[in-house]
Amino acid sequence: MNFASDTAAPAHPKVIEHLIAANAGPAVSYGADGWTLQAESLLSDMFEAPLRANLVSSGTACNALALSLICPPTAGIICHPQAHINCDERGAVEFYSHGAKLLTTRGEHGRIDTRSLQVLLQSVDESFVHAIPPKAISLSNLSESGTCYSPKQVAELTGLAKSSGLTTHMDGARLANALAFLAVRPGDITWGSGIDVLSFGLTKTGAMAAEAVILFGEAIDKFDELQARRKRAGHLPPKQRFIAAQIIAMLENNLWLETASHANQMAKLLEEGLRNSKVNILHPVEGNEVFAQLSPNQTSQLRDGGVVFYSWPDGSARFVTSWNTMKTEIGKALVLL
Ligand SMILES: Cc1ncc(COP(=O)(O)O)c(C=O)c1O
Repeated sequence: MNFASDTAAPAHPKVIEHLIAANAGPAVSYGADGWTLQAESLLSDMFEAPLRANLVSSGTACNALALSLICPPTAGIICHPQAHINCDERGAVEFYSHGAKLLTTRGEHGRIDTRSLQVLLQSVDESFVHAIPPKAISLSNLSESGTCYSPKQVAELTGLAKSSGLTTHMDGARLANALAFLAVRPGDITWGSGIDVLSFGLTKTGAMAAEAVILFGEAIDKFDELQARRKRAGHLPPKQRFIAAQIIAMLENNLWLETASHANQMAKLLEEGLRNSKVNILHPVEGNEVFAQLSPNQTSQLRDGGVVFYSWPDGSARFVTSWNTMKTEIGKALVLL
């Protein structure tokens, strides 16, 4: 009954199978191998667009490299106050960008609100040397509250941002869960809605450690610079074929969709059970995360019974399901209430 995080889940057996197959002998190093080529080509098929991808092993590296590429040190990156880049990456974005500032703007349930973005952008005065002009925006999909932006919402926000000259980024550490919920094509929620650079995560969806910085459209021109930054940051793995093999495993036969859909279904089941026990759920469950308002008694009943979950900074309890969550675990957890 471990609902601490989808990062606590094991890697999917198909990922291990692909890793073993990739371990068959020598291969070209530093990303010039056949697995990397195949992974990039599968990503391009999945997003139905030309793209360039840089494979890395953590979501933090992905976000920090991606954002350093699109925001100069003297400018700012707009994000939600609860965004992972703002709360949970130990200043990695600021560090990799050599000092770009994160500028937060509000919105309910972890999503930036169009009106707040409008107000922020209207207040920018580029000629005022003392203030920080935003040059990029980052949207998290899923958000930190487990909610999704729809393609329409993304397009509205990126449209506004672009009309003010900003470049756009999506933190898609859990994009697979958002896609499974929205039932839209991967291209619709990314480049099709105005996203230039995507951090695409597959670790939370079933890989061992596989993430990709993906450049779409004109951002593709920045690929050489991204490569250079990745090397300097120590994120060019000599045996990159093993990250690529995981991506191939997750993309082949749409395994990512199967695993993310399962995780989402488990979250819905948990939500339903908690609601039946009169527990207040704080955010719409649109992925694999459930935020619940538990009494101290309920918290102890669950913890004493062996249920693992995080206490969230807002006082709620965060439950995360994964490809490996079983219905029986949810049933066992719920009877403790
Ligand atoms: C939305 C989001 N982005 C980025 C990350 C960073 O991933 P990592 O822990 O692999 O650095 C996380 C991790 O939980 C996350 O939830």
